[in-house]
Amino acid sequence: MTQGDDPVLETRELSLHYGPVRALAEVDLRVPGRRITAVIGPSGCGKTTLLRCFNRMNDAYPKVRVSGRVFVEGVDVTTSEVDLESLRKRVGMVFQKSNPFPMSIRRNVTFGPRMSGVRDPARLAEIAEHSLRLADLWAEVSHRLDESALDLSGGQQQRLCIARALANEPDILLLDEPASSLDPISTAKIEDTLVRLKERYTIVIVTHNLQQAARVADFTAFLMAGRLVEFGATARMFTNPREKLSEDYITGRFG
Ligand SMILES: Nc1ncnc2c1ncn2[C@@H]1O[C@H](COP(=O)(O)OP(=O)(O)OP(=O)(O)O)[C@@H](O)[C@H]1O
Ligand SMILES: [Mg+2]
Repeated sequence: MTQGDDPVLETRELSLHYGPVRALAEVDLRVPGRRITAVIGPSGCGKTTLLRCFNRMNDAYPKVRVSGRVFVEGVDVTTSEVDLESLRKRVGMVFQKSNPFPMSIRRNVTFGPRMSGVRDPARLAEIAEHSLRLADLWAEVSHRLDESALDLSGGQQQRLCIARALANEPDILLLDEPASSLDPISTAKIEDTLVRLKERYTIVIVTHNLQQAARVADFTAFLMAGRLVEFGATARMFTNPREKLSEDYITGRFG
């Protein structure tokens, strides 16, 4: 992040417990806008938990205790006044296992807008085309929009989930290992899509694939045991990590 830029996402002394288990410990992170930030670290280090803090998805789990603050575009979203529906529209999320709804491709993409009351078929068609184009899926599905989304390939389903998130016109897109179950070609398509999208969106991607982080991410955050060990420009972090722990992880000594 260049000096003086306000972060789009920020945590301050963010800690989170699931009952007795501490999943995040005093995380101070500043995520710059219109860039891709990768979150890396060993299994169970808190990556998914951290993503879920940005749109309050952790609220869904029992016995969660959060302390510290989380800012989205400068607004503290840990307070009770936050409108969760509008927060989750602004902060879209795509999961590791693609989860298209059991309905047509068209109805999947237009789901969010229809839920928020858009009824005009022409407007819905426009949103569907625009979102599918953004997710680089339009050419593959434009002739079969009324077929079931479940008949798409795994990679297409994941791009459909990206399109569905984009149809809500979010500012921020969180992706939790979006390509981990995909073949290299589908993975490359997702990566290309993300790189194009960063012109307009702030993107945070959790990945176990360090090459993927190196290919797509401008910045990388390395978490271990719930702590943010290091954050910085990806190129610098991968060639010249400041922390011994980051170096050991990046060079494959553990994880
Ligand atoms: N809903 C939950 N209830 C209780 N404990 C949880 C819950 N979700 C996560 N945890 C615990 O919190 C810690 C962090 O989990 P999290 O899922 O954030 O890790 P992660 O870095 O995403 O791991 P992975 O790379 O395996 O996806 C782990 O110890 C995990 O067991
Ligand atoms: Mg996870």
